[in-house]
Formats: sequence, structure tokens, C-alpha cells
Amino acid sequence: NNLKDLFSIFRVVKMFLMCLWCCVCRRVEHDYFRYHPMPEITDWMWLMVEDHPDLVTVVDYGRTHENRTISLLKIGLDTGLKKKAVWMDCGIHAREWIAPAFCQYFVRQILQTSKTDPKMELMMKNLDFYVTPVFNVDGYVYSWKDNTTRLWRKSRSASPPGCDCQGTDLNRNFDSNWAVGVSSNCCSSRYCGTGPMSEPETQFLTYFMGSWKDDFLCFLTIHSFGQMLLFPYGHPNFTASNYAELMEVALAAAEAIQEVHGMIYKVGIASDVIYPFSGSSQDWAHMLGIPLTFTFELRDNGTFGFELPEDQIQPSCEEAYSGVLHIITYAHDKAFSAAAAVWTVLLAAATTAVSLM
Ligand SMILES: *[C@@H]1O[C@H](CO)[C@@H](O)[C@H](O)[C@H]1NC(C)=O
Ligand SMILES: *[C@@H]1O[C@H](CO)[C@@H](O)[C@H](O)[C@H]1NC(C)=O
Ligand SMILES: *[C@@H]1O[C@H](CO)[C@@H](O)[C@H](O)[C@H]1NC(C)=O
Ligand SMILES: *[C@@H]1O[C@H](CO)[C@@H](O)[C@H](O)[C@H]1NC(C)=O
Ligand SMILES: [Zn+2]
Repeated sequence: NNLKDLFSIFRVVKMFLMCLWCCVCRRVEHDYFRYHPMPEITDWMWLMVEDHPDLVTVVDYGRTHENRTISLLKIGLDTGLKKKAVWMDCGIHAREWIAPAFCQYFVRQILQTSKTDPKMELMMKNLDFYVTPVFNVDGYVYSWKDNTTRLWRKSRSASPPGCDCQGTDLNRNFDSNWAVGVSSNCCSSRYCGTGPMSEPETQFLTYFMGSWKDDFLCFLTIHSFGQMLLFPYGHPNFTASNYAELMEVALAAAEAIQEVHGMIYKVGIASDVIYPFSGSSQDWAHMLGIPLTFTFELRDNGTFGFELPEDQIQPSCEEAYSGVLHIITYAHDKAFSAAAAVWTVLLAAATTAVSLM
């Protein structure tokens, strides 16, 4: 009996030590400059919540074709007031591994700087950041399967009747000028699907955002490769009503990027810089009324393409962060300096009223 007691004490102590060990190393272990498979990214999301319970929550907003959860991190200070929002998604194309790496880096940076930089602290009060580290979860998981699937781009949806290939290009499936300049051949890597929003992933994003679209100041979608900063529209016959503003903001963001490591990003309308296409999330978001809508194509410029070596993750993220920060700061200041002016006027009026009494 004594021996049994001893054993159970031993087991408890061992479990305690194992837990301690797990906590400690999970905390120091997340390496932002390596590529991570999906389960590690999910763990990392919960780690962010654990580390910053006052700022971060996980929101599940959809399910993929293969019934995996699509989740985002909602980041911001709960002020009890109505806030504006910023959208960022990464990994809509499976093989663009630098994109999810960037989303993780972005989250780390805004959380760290919110403690040291008064501007970021202010933005955390006024804005909520909605960051989806991997949007096309099925495709991303598939791209990690083995070296024959590494360059998979699409979702993993079932093949349509009469065709043998799986997967839809989710960035051609949104309901925006649908099916112009895209492929209706299901074997193409740019296959647009059987109809606008035919895919569960696109449907869930559309429903999630549609319900409170007016709160979003900006929509950023992160891809690779090519070093480009694109804005609407992909369809050559449409021009964004705020074209001049989009161009100005993008040019300044590209300049901010270049200042970090000297990398040149090409700036312009998607249909000019790449090729005409429709059904992209960027065009859809702009048509929905979100004014500042951009697509980032991160490094590189063709040498390694989608298989960007891990030693380039850090510089890629550093420079892209600088461009993203420019856009977000612009969006924030535009929305809140006007509001601040109104407050000043109200305060002055209140002071006058009090002094008259
Ligand atoms: C999808 O997963 C959820 C949660 O694990 C489960 O409740 C649901 O039944 C699944 N749906 C299908 C169609 O398998
Ligand atoms: C894929 O992996 C197999 C076995 O690990 C290897 O023999 C093959 O050369 C690899 N193919 C490519 C294209 O890297
Ligand atoms: C754009 O407009 C031109 C002229 O109206 C038309 O001929 C062309 O088909 C349109 N392009 C697309 C992609 O719809
Ligand atoms: C990308 O590389 C090509 C070929 O080397 C070069 O002509 C082009 O200017 C580069 N683009 C950027 C944005 O660096
Ligand atoms: Zn892409």
C-alpha cells in the first residue's frame, strides 16, 4: 500500500513537472522565422490568447470543404465603445507559405509595440484587428503533405461533374464581376468554381463580413510572390472611385517597404500589374464598400518563387510590416482625426456652457 501511495505521488509530481516543462518551452519555442504546419499555427493562436487575454480572442467563423475550422484572431482593447476594424487574411493560396508566416509576425509585432508605442496603443483602442493566419486551411494542410503537393494553390473541393480534378481557386470565387478572365477548366490552378461563392470558404467570409461591413476601414490580403502592392480592380472595365487615394497610399507603402531592406515593390491596379481577372476577395471587399483594399504579393521576385527559403522570412516580414503599418496608420488617422476634431468642438461647447451657468 505504501508503495502504491509512493507511486501515485510520483505520478502526480511527474505530471506536474511535465506540465511545467510544456508551458515553459511552448512559450519560448514559437519560431517566427520558420514555416509551421497547420497544427502548430493553431497552437500558436491559443498561445497568443494565453499571453494577451486582455487583447486577443479566437473567433471561429467558418468550416472548409473538408470540415476544418477557419479561425481568426481578434486583437484590440475592449473599450466598451463601438470600434472600427481592420481585416487581414493570409494563405488563401496554399503554396504561398510566406503569407501565413507574415500574419504570425504581424500579430506579434502589433502586440509587442502596443506596450511600447503610444500610437499602436491608441490604434488598439480605436481599432480591432481581424487576422486570419490561414484562410485556405485544407489547401495549406495539403501543401504540407509531401513534396509532390507542395505547390498546391487551390482549395480541396470535390471535382465538379464530368471533370477529374479537385480544388477551386478561392481568389477567383468571390462574387465580383464573376468569371471574367478566369478559367472554367477544373484542372486549371485558377479554376473559378461552379458559380460565384460556390465554395464554403468564400461563403463563410462573405457572411462574416457582410453583417458589419461598415465597420471595416481596410482589407488586406497577403499573397506571394512577385513583390507587388495591388488594388482594385482586377477587371479592366472598372475603376475604383477612390483610385487616386489608393495609388497614393500604395506608393507611400512601397516606399516604406523599400526603406527597410531596399526591396522594390511594384504598385498598381491588379489588372495592369498582373493580368485581368475577377472573383478576387480584394475586388469583392471594395465593391462591398471597404475603401482601402490591397493585395500584397510578398517576396521574392522569381528566384525561389513560392519556395522562399526560411532565411528570407525575417527580412520579408520586416519590410512588409512597414508597408502594412503605413496603410493601417493612414486608415486610422483618416477615421479618427475627424472624430477627434468633433470631440474637441463638443468639449469646447460644453466648457462654454458650463462657464455661462
Ligand atoms: C464537422 O465537424 C464538426 C465538429 O467537429 C461536427 O460536429 C460536424 O458533424 C462535422 N460535419 C460534417 C459534415 O462532418
Ligand atoms: C520527393 O521525395 C522523394 C522521397 O523523399 C525523393 O526521392 C524525390 O526526389 C523528391 N522529389 C522532389 C521533386 O523533390
Ligand atoms: C470591357 O468593355 C469593352 C467595351 O465596352 C468590351 O468590349 C469588353 O468586352 C469588356 N471587357 C470585359 C472583360 O468585360
Ligand atoms: C524583378 O526581376 C526582374 C528581372 O531580374 C527585374 O527586371 C525587375 O525589375 C525586378 N522587379 C522588381 C520589382 O524588383
Ligand atoms: Zn496568391
